Amino acid sequence: MIRVRVGDFRLGEKERKALLDVIDSGRISEGKKTSDFEKAWAGYIGTRFSVAVNSGTSALMAGLTALKYKYNLKPGTKVVTTPLTFIATINAIYATGFVPVFADVDSHTMVITPQSVKEALKCEPGARILLPVHLMGYPVDMDSINDIAKANNLIVMEDAAQAHGTIYKGKKVGGLSELGIYSFYIAHNVQAGEMGAVVTNDAQIFKLVKKIKAHGRMCECEVCTRPSGVCRILDSYKGDADFDPRFCHDIIGFNFKVMEFQAALGLTQLEKADDIFKKRNQNVKYLNSGLSGLSDILQLPYYSPEVSYLAYPVVLKDGSVISRKKLRAELEASGVETRPLFGCVPTQQKAYEFMKAEYIKKIPNAQYIGTNGFYVGCHQYLKKEDLDFMISVFKKILQDKK
Ligand SMILES: Cc1ncc(COP(=O)(O)O)c(C=O)c1O
Repeated sequence: MIRVRVGDFRLGEKERKALLDVIDSGRISEGKKTSDFEKAWAGYIGTRFSVAVNSGTSALMAGLTALKYKYNLKPGTKVVTTPLTFIATINAIYATGFVPVFADVDSHTMVITPQSVKEALKCEPGARILLPVHLMGYPVDMDSINDIAKANNLIVMEDAAQAHGTIYKGKKVGGLSELGIYSFYIAHNVQAGEMGAVVTNDAQIFKLVKKIKAHGRMCECEVCTRPSGVCRILDSYKGDADFDPRFCHDIIGFNFKVMEFQAALGLTQLEKADDIFKKRNQNVKYLNSGLSGLSDILQLPYYSPEVSYLAYPVVLKDGSVISRKKLRAELEASGVETRPLFGCVPTQQKAYEFMKAEYIKKIPNAQYIGTNGFYVGCHQYLKKEDLDFMISVFKKILQDKK
């Protein structure tokens, strides 16, 4: 039986009440809770605006589509990004009609480096977007990324789906570029089941994302005021047509709207975000100290008090005495749940097989981690006994293999 899960979610009194409040309000589709969450999330990250959408993938697609409209980007626009990420990042690039270009990652922090981005740009000087991913909570060196962008006339958008609250030079990641995205999927630090958000300081991007998430319709209000008999856009319309902004669309959009239940749950978790961050961070420190004796076999996670850890990522060192498959199987059989570190998208995911030949020799660190990396839980519900249990399980499996 699994004792230590990769993630956990507990519905306490506050969460139950938040869900019941939505039922009692009589409105379950997007409304006040959603706009409350948007304001609270923008406040937490430190940006002017935040737009909630129904998943992190939708946030990526809405953000990329907003860039497409704002900058008149053509199909085939190149996006420099990481090969080591959850596949949604790359799927969203393709779904928007753009093409990913991969820069290799740092072998320890697992995120793209300024050097690898410069090398990728040498091969693709026509790229227009840089899309760094703050994987596992680790911050990309955003000052250098923004400098490279400025020098090369590039737009920067952050995927901070896995990095809720990570601090980079005093500011939260996701808010360090033109726009950033988050996922509040159940396994993430601030959980809503399924939900995402786009943050930005740019009023044009904000308006575009709001339209894109709602079919490209011509509304502009934060929350629809029609139920109270007022419509600002309609009331200011001077033409003769039978104009209804809800059913007039000036750009092509999607339905990425959220349910009030998601926003209500997100609000309850956001209240605890600092505690969640702290607990996960302390757990990583504790596990690192307990497992330090195994550091000749395992690359333990790089530790920083400023990282908001999604999980506890480890990488089997070169020439290891055990395969990842066997180690994961033994951990799971002993009660510790594991997940592979996503895989290197262009060379290890079947969906992107058509890129394999181009990248097979270009991104060795991503390939290595994609094959030898995995993660276990460090979540806020783990107690000291659970962490000690994890340490003892790792030791039992690995110590006699030394
Ligand atoms: C890096 C990254 N980007 C995007 C996403 C997509 O988020 P969602 O699952 O909410 O669609 C995820 C999900 O885990 C992710 O890890």
